[in-house]
Amino acid sequence: MFSKVEKVTCVGAGYVGGPTCAMIAHKCPDIQVTVVDMNSEKIAEWNSEKLPIYEPGLHEIVMAARGKNLHFSSDIPKAIREADLIFISVNTPTKNYGRGKGMAPDLKYVESVARTIAQHAGAPKIVVEKSTVPVKAAESISFILREAQKNDTRLAFQVLSNPEFLAEGTAIRDLSNPDRVLIGGESTKEGQEAIHHLVSIYERWVPRDRILTTNTWSSELSKLAANAFLAQRISSINAMSAVCEATGADVREVAHAVGFDSRIGNKFLQASVGFGGSCFQKDVLSLVYLCESLNLQKVADYWMGVIDINNWQRRRFADKIIAELFNTVTDKRIAIFGFAFKKNTGDTRESSSIYVSSHLLEEHAKLAIYDPKVSEKQIRMELGNNVDKQIVEKLVTVCADPYEAAAGAHAIVVLTEWDEFKELDYSRIYSSMQHPAAIFDGRLILDQPVLRDIGFRTFAIGTAP
Ligand code: NAD
Ligand code: UGA
Repeated sequence: MFSKVEKVTCVGAGYVGGPTCAMIAHKCPDIQVTVVDMNSEKIAEWNSEKLPIYEPGLHEIVMAARGKNLHFSSDIPKAIREADLIFISVNTPTKNYGRGKGMAPDLKYVESVARTIAQHAGAPKIVVEKSTVPVKAAESISFILREAQKNDTRLAFQVLSNPEFLAEGTAIRDLSNPDRVLIGGESTKEGQEAIHHLVSIYERWVPRDRILTTNTWSSELSKLAANAFLAQRISSINAMSAVCEATGADVREVAHAVGFDSRIGNKFLQASVGFGGSCFQKDVLSLVYLCESLNLQKVADYWMGVIDINNWQRRRFADKIIAELFNTVTDKRIAIFGFAFKKNTGDTRESSSIYVSSHLLEEHAKLAIYDPKVSEKQIRMELGNNVDKQIVEKLVTVCADPYEAAAGAHAIVVLTEWDEFKELDYSRIYSSMQHPAAIFDGRLILDQPVLRDIGFRTFAIGTAP
């Protein structure tokens, strides 16, 4: 094929493509890295001072490498032609139409990139599936590429699976010090050679024993399995949170005691208003759909339980707010603290805030929403996709600071665990609110006894009042 990878292209300049390629450029100054996207506005932002995504540490490494060995471009054919290795890092959202609607991932973007590569390659390429895809997706990509090969003997392709495990908000830390890098490929000589080329990129900064190589299907399935296991832990602790509320146990103490067992471990046991983000729900649904199509209904049902508990937890929290506000929130001002799906990101995809806010809007509550990293436009867009746009227009105010949001409110609802919410002057906030004033902590970040001393009625997920 070629002796060394000198040029890398990544198709898809999103949350994964941008940071991953910035890290490769940062760690491999001798490799030219080009990130392309069909969204030219996004590319313009990557080339500007204000990057299209917020991620701690990202700005610094982009600015250091941009224009040297890191490039952002809209010229997709050129970037494909020039690359030795091409990452496919496009979105794979849950389908919202046709067969598999609401369950299967939509692979149209992945397929379209495969066709563009087939059309413009002109020379041998290693094609790396970075997007999260169902098992056997690499087969479809290979099929399309092999067709191109039949008409052009200069071409040769190897398709690898190299799923990404970074989490938003900690992407740079995760990329620079990953628990593992996973690479799947064919067992043929050419397949092993392609794996070796990709290993030699990561090897520059990841210890070799943390770079795992497997067959293609194990790699694809491991990504779905990893997200399903992580989501399952959250649903497990959230299921326990309901038992805690009903019995007087405290979910933080239960998580601590359970997580102390080294076989279980203490990570991902933080009870919450439900997991959000673009991937957990999408990937668990993708796994459920895969199992159903393999006639493994019991397995599908098992994993579907993870999603069911998550939806139930969101609804349960919203219902709790309504019940505690004397069974009516109509025309009551409620301050929503946090709209992003977790702290340190401006990403709102599948955020539990959308669902809790929507339930409250359906009850005609007036919401005053504050999030340090999410724009008003974004908040209105997300809510408008869930409830009538006129209701959003009429009942939602987006505030520039948390004090403004809380002023005159009957209740505060904490939905994202931003650190700044821990440090607010709650005495000042209390005196600006309607009384009785309540705080609903969906993230367990506030000091309940202190708030109660101030005068608040407090409700925290997984704790008895
Ligand atoms: P994203 O929506 O942020 O970015 C995808 C980009 O691909 C978009 O900018 C879009 O314009 C572009 N694109 C789509 N089709 C294209 C085409 N044909 N040609 C050129 N550009 C095209 O998505 P993301 O969050 O970066 O996720 C990408 C993949 O990585 C998904 O499969 C996701 O499941 C997976 N993943 C995401 C995360 C995460 O934290 N967001 C982590 C691990 C894995
Ligand atoms: C998750 C995984 O952690 C990544 O490994 C994976 O690569 C990524 O999905 C993906 O495939 O997209 P991400 O969704 O960015 O990353 O963020 P997480 O930290 O996993 O949080 C997801 C959601 O679960 C958030 O809403 C978070 O608040 C919630 N969560 C997390 C809890 O409610 N409790 C916890 O203990 C941990």
